Amino acid sequence: MIVAIDGPAGAGKGTLARRLAQRFNLAYLDTGALYRAVGVRVLEMGAEPSDPASAAHAARTLDLTSLDSPRLRDEDAGEAASQVAAIPEVRAALLDFQRDFAKNPPSPCTGAVLDGRDIGTVVCPHAELKLYITASAEERARRRTLELQEKGFDVIQERVLADILGRDERDRDRSTAPLAMAGDAIVLDTTEMDADMVFDRAVVLFRSRAEQFAE
Ligand code: CDP
Repeated sequence: MIVAIDGPAGAGKGTLARRLAQRFNLAYLDTGALYRAVGVRVLEMGAEPSDPASAAHAARTLDLTSLDSPRLRDEDAGEAASQVAAIPEVRAALLDFQRDFAKNPPSPCTGAVLDGRDIGTVVCPHAELKLYITASAEERARRRTLELQEKGFDVIQERVLADILGRDERDRDRSTAPLAMAGDAIVLDTTEMDADMVFDRAVVLFRSRAEQFAE
């Protein structure tokens, strides 16, 4: 089974994906970390994340072994990620790795769960289960602010909200693989749901799809 989870910034895709991976023995790929890693590399090179040549070079030579570095979760990494993510050469350079991960998940996993913006539409259009996780921008900003504050960052919710809205707009409006709902995705609006409710709902959906595919 391949599970594709898409949605805007701070909707809770990562939390859900991690829990599904653990419950159903799936390999998990946080595709946002790929774009964040490219963005951080460009910053470290002293270049502009919006510069296509630098970003494409960073994507083509990316070290895929450091995707869980805490540096990638910083706010400036998210901002740089959304700038490099709008560059078609960057997306092209990362596509094969993502598709290969989904098709050949590291053993002993029996499937894969990927989260991002274009998983159900571009990376894995044949995924057996597609979820689109969303929530109001205010609620997403509230959750992201708490997450950052727990990590010791001194952030203000209004600022986080402005960043999220800016990133959403850029992700939706870009011409290559924009943030979009696949026609066959199931939408979960989590504004009024806590993480356990979202997980329980996704477990039911996963089981029902797995039964369908076993028939
Ligand atoms: O965790 P959060 O939702 O804030 O962001 P993320 O999933 O780590 O993604 C960071 C940025 O990478 C997004 O704002 C997108 O611009 C980009 N991204 C993308 O374009 N395509 C993906 N499949 C995943 C992320």
